[in-house]
Amino acid sequence: MGSDRAVNVGAPAVDIADLLARIQARKIRIGIIGLGYVGIPLALTAVKAGFQVLGFDINAPRVARLNQGESLIKHVPDEYVAQAVREQKFEATADFSRLGEPDAILICVPTPLTKHQEPDLSYVENTAHVIAPCLREGQIVVLESTTYPGTTDEVLRPIFEATGLKSGKDFFLAFSPEREDPGNPDFGTSAIPKVVGGDGPAALALADALYSQLVVKTVPVSSTATAEAVKLTENIFRAVNIALVNELKVVYAAMGVDIWEVIDAAKTKPFGFMPFYPGPGLGGHCIPIDPFYLTWKAREYDIATRFIELAGQINTRMPYYVVNKLAEAVDKGGKPFTGSRILLLGVAYKKNVDDMRESPSLKLMELIEARGAQVDYHDPYIPEIPRTRKHADLMGRRSVALDAPTLAAYDAVLIATDHDNVDYRLVVDNARLVVDTRNACARAGLSGGRIVKA
Ligand SMILES: NC(=O)c1ccc[n+]([C@@H]2O[C@H](COP(=O)([O-])OP(=O)(O)OC[C@H]3O[C@@H](n4cnc5c(N)ncnc54)[C@H](O)[C@@H]3O)[C@@H](O)[C@H]2O)c1
Repeated sequence: MGSDRAVNVGAPAVDIADLLARIQARKIRIGIIGLGYVGIPLALTAVKAGFQVLGFDINAPRVARLNQGESLIKHVPDEYVAQAVREQKFEATADFSRLGEPDAILICVPTPLTKHQEPDLSYVENTAHVIAPCLREGQIVVLESTTYPGTTDEVLRPIFEATGLKSGKDFFLAFSPEREDPGNPDFGTSAIPKVVGGDGPAALALADALYSQLVVKTVPVSSTATAEAVKLTENIFRAVNIALVNELKVVYAAMGVDIWEVIDAAKTKPFGFMPFYPGPGLGGHCIPIDPFYLTWKAREYDIATRFIELAGQINTRMPYYVVNKLAEAVDKGGKPFTGSRILLLGVAYKKNVDDMRESPSLKLMELIEARGAQVDYHDPYIPEIPRTRKHADLMGRRSVALDAPTLAAYDAVLIATDHDNVDYRLVVDNARLVVDTRNACARAGLSGGRIVKA
């Protein structure tokens, strides 16, 4: 007995050199759990790099549509998926008993907040519990979902090690944050460097080798917690800087100074300044949510994240500021805001995407209606408002046409999202009043007394 143990201690259960060689030869099979805005582009990037990819999702209709060659994402052509399926390089499944098949499993499931603004790790935990019974020697598991420092080590590792397998010896655990920027034509998945943190040196080497096959550059860091912190830092940086320009917008507007003109001039400084732009409030699955993952974790150390809280407060107030400006402008035009008709332009949370998660436009619509005005919307990418977390009452509203008679029928058009394919000249020529939260009219070379910036 004693001598057996002596022989086994420290002996690698897995031939790491062989695994590394198979990764570099692109001979391993990759599993991706969560086929959404992150998982689908990642799957296609892996296919393009020459890997076999098996995608997992709990949403059976999504799985079926992917297998029929639909991309499900506006900016990803169907043909990319169709070709990968046709050539048998990509398959989607809702059968999680197949999780033993891939050699590397990349987790891309949602990480939202609960209604008390606390991390909702239920998707990540559920995923870990379905992986665990299939986990086998030599498997690499990487969490890509945005989360607080410590998640991989404190939440995932214990679930996997409860199987009796040991991290760093039998299986290899890593965290590599997803930096996908949906709709960004300059930076697709493979063009964005990938930060990688491993649970131990073998996990880091393996995960780093894997991502080196997929993206332009990897950035190895010393731990999974560091990699988790990198992602939160990037998004907190954005949230805080957006709050700053939103605050400056309000101050400068009171002084008759145009924040967009200020930023355009300030960004000519070749160092020490980076432009961020104001808007009607924060939206999307990341920036309004991720910072609060750190806030929650920081409480464990009795530390208050005051910048995050303050940025959250300022950004949350922006829709109220915008609706006040709108109401003021409508009133000034001689029409009482109560009883007026408003056309909101753009309900996606940012331009050129069909994603409206956490979009401030929904809050704007509710605030406009709360003040007794009527509101419709136009969005070229969102024909109908789907079910959302906080605004159930808006579900089912449909986008109206954007033509001259429609525009003229409203008391004001409120530009909330600056999609590139909207004809802003048509808007300005036909609307009675345009309230622009994105500086879209000025960027289209349009000016005039009927445009109010907000
Ligand atoms: N969308 C972005 O731009 C972006 C950018 C960077 C990072 N992220 C992060 O990536 C993660 C995923 O975000 P997303 O935008 O792709 O989400 P998404 O909602 O678009 O996709 C998530 C997918 O996971 C599936 N899913 C949910 N629970 C599951 C489970 N238990 N097992 C298998 N599949 C499950 C859902 O059906 C859905 O298809 C989040 O942590 C997010 O913060 C997103």
